[in-house]
Amino acid sequence: MAAESNLSIQGLRAGYGNLDILNGVDLDVPPGQFVALMGPNGAGKSTLLKTLYGMTTIKGGSIEWRGKNIAGMRSRAILGEGVSFVPQGRCNFPVMTVDENLQMAAFTIRDAKVKADRDYVYDLFPILKTRRSTLAGNMSGGEQQLLEVAMAVLQRPKVLLVDEPSVGLSPAAIGVVFDELLRLHAAGMTILLVEQNTKKAMEVAQRAVILRLGKVIWDGKPAEITHDELGELFLTGRMRGEADAVH
Ligand SMILES: Nc1ncnc2c1ncn2[C@@H]1O[C@H](COP(=O)(O)OP(=O)(O)OP(=O)(O)O)[C@@H](O)[C@H]1O
Ligand SMILES: [Mg+2]
Repeated sequence: MAAESNLSIQGLRAGYGNLDILNGVDLDVPPGQFVALMGPNGAGKSTLLKTLYGMTTIKGGSIEWRGKNIAGMRSRAILGEGVSFVPQGRCNFPVMTVDENLQMAAFTIRDAKVKADRDYVYDLFPILKTRRSTLAGNMSGGEQQLLEVAMAVLQRPKVLLVDEPSVGLSPAAIGVVFDELLRLHAAGMTILLVEQNTKKAMEVAQRAVILRLGKVIWDGKPAEITHDELGELFLTGRMRGEADAVH
């Protein structure tokens, strides 16, 4: 594991049953980094997050998280190691209030001090505090997405895995969700964000990692790649003028 990395993924191969989706993913993430995972549909972005969270079949490679190989561990145990996952889609309990949703999330923590935990996320997400008695399903899409992030943050993770939080949201709502992610990042959270909205992802992330056909084909700073080059990579797996996929 690289000395400065909290998370070190090496040669990771994983999929669903006999189906291989990740074909050797290598990725080192230092503490506190905000990483955007991008790539065309079906590239394996969600599969990578699900694999980090113990939800796929691992075929090979390793996932070292703070010095421990978590590959093959159950989701519950991985959560206990400080890894929280916000899956795609939103609103687990639409006919419960915001407060009740947060209570549900708090109950999953052993020895939870439920009220203290809720106050902690209300401090972090003031918008949710004003909506605490609203039924989650009656909130806007952006507010529901914030609630999902808040429920994950309530677990006091050290790394947050977030899959496509902007899907179906208005530009204003996307702005609110990303502002909250930036605030969490500023407070020291490591974030792995899967995002189709490449423009927005490039604005907020410190690092862009592009997956294609289950492999990392580009890894660098957002400033090092143009929007057009990104499109070309998605489409062909190559940068203009290059014969083969870049590494
Ligand atoms: N539960 C599953 N069982 C079997 N195959 C799956 C399952 N989930 C995803 N796949 C397949 O794995 C491949 C990668 O899917 P994945 O969801 O990781 O892609 P993605 O990069 O997140 O794409 P998108 O941008 O469309 O969300 C796809 O071919 C998909 O059909
Ligand atoms: Mg996906």
